[in-house]
Amino acid sequence: MKRKDFLKLSSASAMLFGLKSHGINLSDSEKPYDYLKNNSQYMGDFAAPKINVVKVAFIGVGARGSAHAKQIAAIEGTEVVAISDLYKDLAMKSYNLCKDIGGGNRHKNIAIYSGDENKWRAMLKEVKPDAVFISTNWDNHAPMAIETMKNGAHAFLEVPMATTIEDLWDIVNTSEKTRKHCMMMENVNYGRDELMYLNMCRKGIIGDFLHAEAAYIHELRFQMKEEKRGTGSWRTYHYAKSRGNLYPTHGLGPVAQYMNLSRGDDNFNSFVSYSTLALGRKIYAEKNYDSEHKWNKLNYTNGKVPLISFAPKIC
Ligand SMILES: NC(=O)c1ccc[n+]([C@@H]2O[C@H](COP(=O)([O-])OP(=O)(O)OC[C@H]3O[C@@H](n4cnc5c(N)ncnc54)[C@H](O)[C@@H]3O)[C@@H](O)[C@H]2O)c1
Repeated sequence: MKRKDFLKLSSASAMLFGLKSHGINLSDSEKPYDYLKNNSQYMGDFAAPKINVVKVAFIGVGARGSAHAKQIAAIEGTEVVAISDLYKDLAMKSYNLCKDIGGGNRHKNIAIYSGDENKWRAMLKEVKPDAVFISTNWDNHAPMAIETMKNGAHAFLEVPMATTIEDLWDIVNTSEKTRKHCMMMENVNYGRDELMYLNMCRKGIIGDFLHAEAAYIHELRFQMKEEKRGTGSWRTYHYAKSRGNLYPTHGLGPVAQYMNLSRGDDNFNSFVSYSTLALGRKIYAEKNYDSEHKWNKLNYTNGKVPLISFAPKIC
């Protein structure tokens, strides 16, 4: 196997690792590789042509997407052209934020697409953005990113990128075919503490890494209060249909950078994922909701403190 192909396959495998938590066997990833071998145009070192003013659109401006809209609108060289959300009030909230930031000079014509599941499709065709930020519930990420790239825009996706192996390969294949970037916005890689530690690693202060452990420790049971709309209204179900680490890249991303994995010769060699029994949400639901409530009807399978232990392969 050529070195570039190996890197591509192993980077994809790392990306796919999160899917183990969704009960998907990693060996499935071998099949699409045959397809890739015949069609691949490696995107890892690709730089798209410069765009002077980047026309930006957003799909999903709830808790997370509204923060992206605020930040992106403030960056020089952007023009917010459209916002799509199921809920008009949320779309309008981000619309007003962007307008304020634009101060009457930028973001003057922001189209709103809201009210049903598929309005974003019309948005892509009518507004023709250069870049689309996708911050919806997880099952929507892949189809939205794929359509974005097919419609000529770069896609920026919230964590996790997708929830099935097939969707991940479709994203890779579409990106390679359309020559559009598709970035998962793994913000933890760029946190202040994480960058400080990365700097210390690169300066040789830490020494040689041989083994690493990374966990996703985040108290999120409060989200279950969002019963009708908002994060808890869709995310709670993921804790009942999967086991393992649903957010592997928050822990894995920074540690992989410290070890310089998937960037040169060294790569992931083995992973093990551990977690506790799935008791937290069950007890929370029992304490806070009556026995007939929908949160008490779920069979929570996802444990707490999902820890990934992995060893790098040093080439
Ligand atoms: N990287 C991080 O640190 C971080 C932090 C928080 C959330 N997130 C991620 O951000 C994403 C969004 O999470 P959230 O907490 O903002 O959820 P949320 O429920 O608050 O927001 C999702 C929004 O998407 C909209 N939406 C859903 N389907 C749509 C469709 N078909 N068309 C248009 N809009 C649609 C919903 O109406 C909602 O407003 C998730 O992937 C989550 O995991 C990442």
